[in-house]
Amino acid sequence: MEQERNLEIDNLRNSIAGGHPDRFKYDPEHGNKVLAKKTNQFEIEAYQKIYIDDENHPHYKANIIFRNFLPKYHGHHEEDGEIHIKLDNLMFGMENASILDLKMGTSSITVNTPKKLYEKVSQKDAKTTSVSLGFRVTALIVKDEKGEIVEKIRKPHETVDASNMHEFIIKVLKSNSHPEVNREALDFFKLRAIEMLNYFKNHHARRIAGSSILLIVDNINKRYEMKIIDLSSCEDFEDQSKRDEGYILGIESLIQLFDRI
Ligand SMILES: Nc1ncnc2c1ncn2[C@@H]1O[C@H](COP(=O)(O)OP(=O)(O)O)[C@@H](O)[C@H]1O
Ligand SMILES: [Mg+2]
Repeated sequence: MEQERNLEIDNLRNSIAGGHPDRFKYDPEHGNKVLAKKTNQFEIEAYQKIYIDDENHPHYKANIIFRNFLPKYHGHHEEDGEIHIKLDNLMFGMENASILDLKMGTSSITVNTPKKLYEKVSQKDAKTTSVSLGFRVTALIVKDEKGEIVEKIRKPHETVDASNMHEFIIKVLKSNSHPEVNREALDFFKLRAIEMLNYFKNHHARRIAGSSILLIVDNINKRYEMKIIDLSSCEDFEDQSKRDEGYILGIESLIQLFDRI
């Protein structure tokens, strides 16, 4: 029993690339299909807004499109004074998959960043590809043909620039010890990125800070996923014609990189 539990914790830890692994649990109600993550009120409110099921709501159509790019939301619960958000586990049935976590946007100042740290955070952003490309690598997990982790990187910031960014994408496309880039996975990512770009350009009147796009590749079972995670800083623009330009730049840069591979 204890051994089984430890194995489960190991499995979960091996599938959390960035952020704070200690915040994650499998949801007791849904098992390993759903993750429960300790989060803040902002992320709950963001998901609640996106999941308003009122066809007459002004953002209803945009929200329906946006939901496609997010793990499915299953509500939240409070435990020991902490809020836990329940989201589809994007790695469910893909335990051998590799993960690239790309933090999106030109600025990582979030609603939680104290004003006195703005300058410091901006300087850090400028030292990474966030400002130039609109995203940066925050974490990577690469697995071999047996599903064992062969590479785990967190916040490689200053070592990554526009000239070697594609190498990180290639690492996941060649994961599970594949000699060649998996073109099927690459095509999947391209298509999904184009859909996201279309949504962010035409419908998304919000600013999301500190969120990530996850690229997930299981080269053994030929399954791929690309979704947006971490909405803990999500603000609606009052002006409905305004767009999250930093996010748009990030998706455009990503599409350019995909095209070069
Ligand atoms: N819905 C999900 N399904 C699978 N993995 C996830 C999911 N959400 C987050 N992760 C994993 O957890 C990591 C951190 O996620 P994030 O939401 O940014 O957490 P934090 O709030 O700790 O910053 C990601 O890099 C990813 O590997
Ligand atoms: Mg995060």
